[in-house]
Amino acid sequence: TLIRREDYVAPIFWIRTVDLTFDLDPAKTLVTSKMQLERNAAVPHGPLRLHGEELNLLRVLINGESVSFRQEGHELIIDNVPDADFVLEIRNTCCPDKNTALSGLYTSGGGFFTQCEAEGFRRITYFLDRPDVMAVYTVTLRADKSRFPVLLSNGNLLDTADLDNGRHMAKWHDPFPKPSYLFALVAGDLVAREQRIRTRAGKDHLLQVYVRRGDLEKTEHAMNSLIASVVWDEARFNLPLDLERFMVVGVSDFNMGAMENKGLNIFNTSALLASPATATDADFQRIESIVAHEYFHNWTGNRVTCRDWFQLSLKEGLTVFRDQEFSMDMAATPSARAVCRIQDVRALRSMQFPEDAGAMAHPVRPDVYAEINNFYTPTVYEKGSEVVRMYQTLVGREGFGKGMALYFERHDGQAVTCDDFAQAIADANPGSELSKRLDTFKRWYSQAGTPRLQARGQYDAAARTYTLSLQQVNPPSPGQPDKLPQVIPVALGLLSRDGAALPLQLDGEAQAAGTDRVLVLDSAEQSFVFVNVDSAPVPSLLRGFSAPVVLDDGLGDEELLVLLKHDSDAFNRWEASQRLALSRLLTSVRNGQPLRLDDAYLDAMRAVLRHPDLDPAFKALALQLPDEAYIAEQLTVVDPQAIHAAVTQAQEQLAAALQADWAWAFETHQVSGGYQPDPVQSGKRALTNLALSMLVLHATRSGDGVWPGRAYQRFKDATNMTDRMGALSALVQAHAALAEPALERFHAQFKGEALVIDKWFALQGRATELDGKTFARVKQLAKHSDFTLKNPNRARSLIFSLCMFNPAAFHRTDAAGYVFWAEQVLALDAINPQVAGRLARVMDRWTTLATPYRSAAREAIARVAAKAELSNDVREIIDRQLAMD
Ligand code: ARG
Ligand code: ZN
Repeated sequence: TLIRREDYVAPIFWIRTVDLTFDLDPAKTLVTSKMQLERNAAVPHGPLRLHGEELNLLRVLINGESVSFRQEGHELIIDNVPDADFVLEIRNTCCPDKNTALSGLYTSGGGFFTQCEAEGFRRITYFLDRPDVMAVYTVTLRADKSRFPVLLSNGNLLDTADLDNGRHMAKWHDPFPKPSYLFALVAGDLVAREQRIRTRAGKDHLLQVYVRRGDLEKTEHAMNSLIASVVWDEARFNLPLDLERFMVVGVSDFNMGAMENKGLNIFNTSALLASPATATDADFQRIESIVAHEYFHNWTGNRVTCRDWFQLSLKEGLTVFRDQEFSMDMAATPSARAVCRIQDVRALRSMQFPEDAGAMAHPVRPDVYAEINNFYTPTVYEKGSEVVRMYQTLVGREGFGKGMALYFERHDGQAVTCDDFAQAIADANPGSELSKRLDTFKRWYSQAGTPRLQARGQYDAAARTYTLSLQQVNPPSPGQPDKLPQVIPVALGLLSRDGAALPLQLDGEAQAAGTDRVLVLDSAEQSFVFVNVDSAPVPSLLRGFSAPVVLDDGLGDEELLVLLKHDSDAFNRWEASQRLALSRLLTSVRNGQPLRLDDAYLDAMRAVLRHPDLDPAFKALALQLPDEAYIAEQLTVVDPQAIHAAVTQAQEQLAAALQADWAWAFETHQVSGGYQPDPVQSGKRALTNLALSMLVLHATRSGDGVWPGRAYQRFKDATNMTDRMGALSALVQAHAALAEPALERFHAQFKGEALVIDKWFALQGRATELDGKTFARVKQLAKHSDFTLKNPNRARSLIFSLCMFNPAAFHRTDAAGYVFWAEQVLALDAINPQVAGRLARVMDRWTTLATPYRSAAREAIARVAAKAELSNDVREIIDRQLAMD
């Protein structure tokens, strides 16, 4: 059954307070819930329908009296409810041990944990499990004291006591009304890193990071990230920590990255634990951003929440925007900020753009879903963040701050919609570029698909004018054949051929307004005339990626080389490097001819690598080729093997032609001193690791053993995981003979570290080489004693690595990759539908595949579809994929 946005109706009753008591037992937990219901006079009276799944109902009382009820599917229906306020009491049990879906109350590593977003609370007890029902929670936990010495829930600790039979209790109270999806409890044998802080407002707070006993020393980075997040949100948005105590807990079985439960964030250990020996620079960066993300939800998501799940981007798009801004501010230097932006855009283009063009294409605010868990997507999160970024571009940074202030002034304590957010930002900025065209701007929420922006410039030497013509096309997507023009902010600059920034004066303006400005396209076509332009300029368009669109600016190599050398916008400088590579790769793939990198390109790349002023982190990004998923998006018919072949050739030629330069880069960017995950050190490590992989690749291809030997030595001697993984991955991608002993050694060394063993599986799942036997190896590894589908991190590390991130090993002419995918989706679906649904997405773009892949993919999808008892999660995705045919 499909849920539609237009069908929203407010509930018949509000639930104002909830008193929950848990008698925790892994096999059978008893839940008692006492709720105060308040009649919502705005809607007609009727039966009360409560959500409940996988529960054992014991009793139902209204105002202390038993009542008759029915159970229908996943609903508990009470027909004769008072048309007035009343107290509802429910008693039920659930089975945490059997909960392999990791939604609701489950056990992991001997402890109890919850995940209630989006609809997990109904797997704990019967409730109006919808985000517009906000209640004040009081929670009593009872459990065996020796096995579960720590008992946590949201808010403030009111009371603790010892009970009979070795049990004990703790009582928590959260003063802030919240929707059920923000409820959490944790019980287990945990230890905490603690830090007291005083915020700008002069209040004292206790920050705690709870983990399993052996993991305490891996929590320092998370704690530092949390402190930085508290400070940043107060400074940038005036949003203080509103709780006396803020807790973060790590758990190794978790479906996503983390969850923002009020005052009690629960994290996948992969998004929380880090030490230099076990985590890479990228892990450190990811942890900082996820800790910040969950903390920022405290205001954007918790204090102001979503009216219904179609509004998910209200909190997720906004909170991703906030965590991206935070990461950029933490990066400090302009160059390190640009690196953050480049990484974010790279991820958007290789994850969200394909989604927007495929079977699951949906608007930032979807109109319909079968399973809400399928809509925690790059579109809702990352494209949603780009939409928020465009608000800021249109009203300015200060104006955006005012808009946020008005949003909280109006809506604190409420469950609201994306329209409410848009209105607040616009109302706080009357007369702004946003307010002038708010309705048109809001099409970003309703239209799926990535707009194409075409730009063509014409220089008139006699008139000294430059006319820039912009045109947008919004291609159809499933269910949306015709679309209207959107509002596209185009940040731009003009450069002279020798690289000087030209003043930007539009026709009709009295004087130039700097060398960097934003044009707003809000119709299908529009031209802008710049005056007093002394020479034919090179346009630098969409600076900083000012809108999530595909740009066709018609620039040739010569102009791209000017931008690569001189653009003051680091993002477009990087973009030029990618465009130069992309056009060469695409020509080779389209013509079915071997790739030959020309001197112009190679010289330009050498100049970047050797550049005296560019940051190593930037160099590493500019010298990295576009990823295979992004290349595939440029083609109407996709042959994954042809793309992989072209990328491999490009890599080999870059490795060969720049060999001396790679060696120079490797030698001169070594990090000295103790490990710090900061932008300066991590930039150097990124560049030396890229250089090493190039050196190993070239040496292996030319039969020289020196660099592979050095890589092996470096792998063995590394003092941090970034360098160890860098060297190991260089070997795994190119040198099978040394990769084998290295992998063995790595496994032996880290066998007690689950998160590192995940890396071990992932590296092999993503390997392109290993004697061309990756696929067979993955099938073998699926039987390894360390492997299990039950742990989402482990399932992702091996299975997703192959199916999602290793196109060359996955797309096979014998279709074995697709058969494997179908088997794994079905196996996972029986354990954990959310994770299975995610794996199912691998086939979203199957209709663009070339022969023979396309027909084999259809067959594999049909195989999954044929299974009678599929979860909602997988069924929705498979149905949508089949509808593409
Ligand atoms: N709200 C969480 C976050 O973005 C994600 C939780 C989603 N969980 C789910 N089962 N879909 O941080
Ligand atoms: Zn979030």
